[in-house]
Amino acid sequence: MSDEMNQRPEDSEAAGQPSDSVARLVNATKTFGTGDAAVTALDDATIDFRRGEFTAVMGPSGSGKSTLMYCQSGLDRLTSGHAYVGDIDVSTLSDQESSVLRRSKLGFIFQSFHLVPALTARENITLPVDLDPDAEVDETFLAELAAVLGIENRLGNLPSQLSGGQRQRVAVARAMIPRPEVIFADEPTGALDSKTSGELLAYLRTAVDELGQTIVMVTHDAVAASHCDRVVYVQDGRLVDEGRHPTVDDVLDKIRELS
Ligand SMILES: Nc1ncnc2c1ncn2[C@@H]1O[C@H](COP(=O)(O)OP(=O)(O)OP(=O)(O)O)[C@@H](O)[C@H]1O
Ligand SMILES: [Mg+2]
Repeated sequence: MSDEMNQRPEDSEAAGQPSDSVARLVNATKTFGTGDAAVTALDDATIDFRRGEFTAVMGPSGSGKSTLMYCQSGLDRLTSGHAYVGDIDVSTLSDQESSVLRRSKLGFIFQSFHLVPALTARENITLPVDLDPDAEVDETFLAELAAVLGIENRLGNLPSQLSGGQRQRVAVARAMIPRPEVIFADEPTGALDSKTSGELLAYLRTAVDELGQTIVMVTHDAVAASHCDRVVYVQDGRLVDEGRHPTVDDVLDKIRELS
């Protein structure tokens, strides 16, 4: 286990938080259900996500990866501990405040896309900006995203008229368009073939390198993780290890060890 995982929150508070922390969990625990049926999906997890870093979150099915992402972003509430976005403790926010915070600072790419069926691809992509009265769609950025993601000819189509991979790419463009501080992606390459997946990962990598985008990506795919700066491993709701600049083989070895 790395030193960082062992670092106690008191130590990090004493040392002062790094100024480049954009999201962090401190002693985060999430329990579903009560009594015999209780499941501890997140168990005293402390982790920091830094600006401009591309992090993969890996671990067996049911280990708590999605729960970590949902609690970190305020989509779900911790049972105990704290989830910060910048300096804001999302655990103290009302549902409405939490949703305003998400809209202004965070982007999401869900495994099941969550596209609005009655809106075209373009309308789905611009939805987060259209919902914000103070924001305007950056048409140049939208055109660039659509071109890189290969969906420029599909913008007028409804989600039902798109393939699974195209829907996923629309969801990626929707997450990117408001230029959020952090993008949380839950298996964004899950529905893609290896070529499209490679292109998407290369694009996410470019967004990190050139725009300073921070990305937290849940993935089961060692190749996807190898595009990241950092990989963290979750098991039974606990953060059990992490590595930097992982190769595909590093990740496969670790996954075998954990499963
Ligand atoms: N709403 C819920 N009610 C009860 N238990 C839940 C709920 N959501 C998640 N869990 C449980 O919490 C644990 C962690 O679930 P989570 O969805 O975070 O896993 P995961 O690592 O994302 O798995 P996968 O790789 O299959 O997506 C699992 O045991 C799951 O059954
Ligand atoms: Mg999950």
